Amino acid sequence: MGTQPGYDELAEQYELTFPDPFQTPLERHAVAAFTDMVLVHHGEGTVVDIGCGTGHVTADLAHRGLEVVGIDPSEAMLGIARRSHPEVAFRRGEANLNESPELTDRLVPLWGVLARFSLIHVDPHRIGGVLDSWAQRMPVGGVVLLAFQSTDGEGQPAVPFDHAVAPAWRWHPDEMSARLARAGFDEAWRTVSRPDPLHRFPECHLAATRRR
Ligand SMILES: C[S@@+](CC[C@H](N)C(=O)[O-])C[C@H]1O[C@@H](n2cnc3c(N)ncnc32)[C@H](O)[C@@H]1O
Repeated sequence: MGTQPGYDELAEQYELTFPDPFQTPLERHAVAAFTDMVLVHHGEGTVVDIGCGTGHVTADLAHRGLEVVGIDPSEAMLGIARRSHPEVAFRRGEANLNESPELTDRLVPLWGVLARFSLIHVDPHRIGGVLDSWAQRMPVGGVVLLAFQSTDGEGQPAVPFDHAVAPAWRWHPDEMSARLARAGFDEAWRTVSRPDPLHRFPECHLAATRRR
């Protein structure tokens, strides 16, 4: 399993910089829409928050009524998550669920996957394998919500950018949507917010469902 030395080192500072789960109303509403989409189908299954970081959004999902597990490769981020939200389940793991086989049995069927600003840290060559590992565990109708810094320019699959903590890539929403489609997910909706004084890049929320 990969490690996240940048996030391990800067976890406490990250927590101070981002004390709230959502920076904008749009972020909050996107996660609320994801939750509602999952609850329409929700049976016995679990939802995972991939790259859950300090766990504040994982806790929000739990408070909204989902059975959720937060997954992150950074022990320091997980330490803060567990300290701040002792009632929520957090596990060390990778975006590619096939790399965390000890988690797999407990998480199937997987009705939802949330990945907020975490797939940006996955090398673009590995994204296909990550999405496949989710699709393998998700029933028809299972919901994915991705949030990521995006690009406007077409023609390049992903563009590296100078993220403050770890290597990161921005994606064009169409390209990410195509990657999801290849793995067996149909785009349901997307939002793109424009840069502002607090956000250098466009940011995309992209929701998709597991195809029949
Ligand atoms: C910008 S933070 C976002 C945290 C949280 N999702 C949120 O919205 O507040 C990115 C997180 O992704 C995690 N991450 C980095 N590489 C990852 C990988 N390969 N798989 C899963 N998570 C990863 C980092 O450890 C970090 O906690």
